[in-house]
Amino acid sequence: MKKHILIILLAIFPATSFAAGVGVHLDAAPIDINDKDSIKRGAKNFVDYCFSCHSAKFMRFNRIAKDTGMDEDELREMMIFTRDKKGEATKTGDLMTVAMTDEYAKSAFGTAVPDLTLTARARGADWLYTYLRTFYVDENRPTGMNNLAFPDVAMPNVLMNLQGVNKAVYADDGHGGNKIEGLEKIQPGSMTTEEFDAFTADLVNFMVYLAEPVQAERRSMGWKVLLFLAIFFVFAYLLKKEYWKDVH
Ligand code: HEC
Repeated sequence: MKKHILIILLAIFPATSFAAGVGVHLDAAPIDINDKDSIKRGAKNFVDYCFSCHSAKFMRFNRIAKDTGMDEDELREMMIFTRDKKGEATKTGDLMTVAMTDEYAKSAFGTAVPDLTLTARARGADWLYTYLRTFYVDENRPTGMNNLAFPDVAMPNVLMNLQGVNKAVYADDGHGGNKIEGLEKIQPGSMTTEEFDAFTADLVNFMVYLAEPVQAERRSMGWKVLLFLAIFFVFAYLLKKEYWKDVH
């Protein structure tokens, strides 16, 4: 019986159950899946900064263009440096694969680079938003960087030029050890904190779109169905009263 309740709870609160597994405080991602301009900017950020290593191989370029209202020129400009598995320039209808092989990634980073199409679903938007903003200096790591949301991550901090460099601030954990209390900027990047947060929010918004491209449509459809049922209920009730009026 207990098991059944647990399964039902997990089904109802999938996002919460994931978040609970992470020991770090997650910042709420300020995203809006109906904001197509934000998704469009995020797609550009993704191609510029992530797509050299990470694929999004279940998505096609031209679908993003269609869903965000990007015209042909904007799409070509976004894709201009992208290459497919054979190293050839990609076409607008291609899937978003990358030229990097798992063997190369393993020799460079010690691990394969995961595909990011569905990551927003597995990790949640808040986790992504926190992860991308919480790299900090750690001399003991091969990349010189560690991460609050993903301890000992193998990914280099690719957004460092934009964000700047952060170091960890430690506090006594009350058991004779140290715990990280927060991060402090020790070197500025090309963006202010607000600009960088907005850049990251667009990127996360795009990744949430990637993981479920029809989400915005599905939600608005849900409200329409509920509205229909509400109106239909009135008529059904009146009809029921009419049918039963001689019986009561
Ligand atoms: C230089 C190559 C490289 C670039 C560029 C890069 N990453 Fe990564 N990324 C990695 C590697 C390698 C891992 C695997 C880390 C591990 O398992 O420790 C990773 C892991 C991740 C993960 C964790 C996935 C998971 O669920 O375990 C996310 C999320 C991610 N990257 C997002 C991004 C985003 C967003 C960008 C663009 C801003 C980006 N990465 C750019 C190499 C890269």
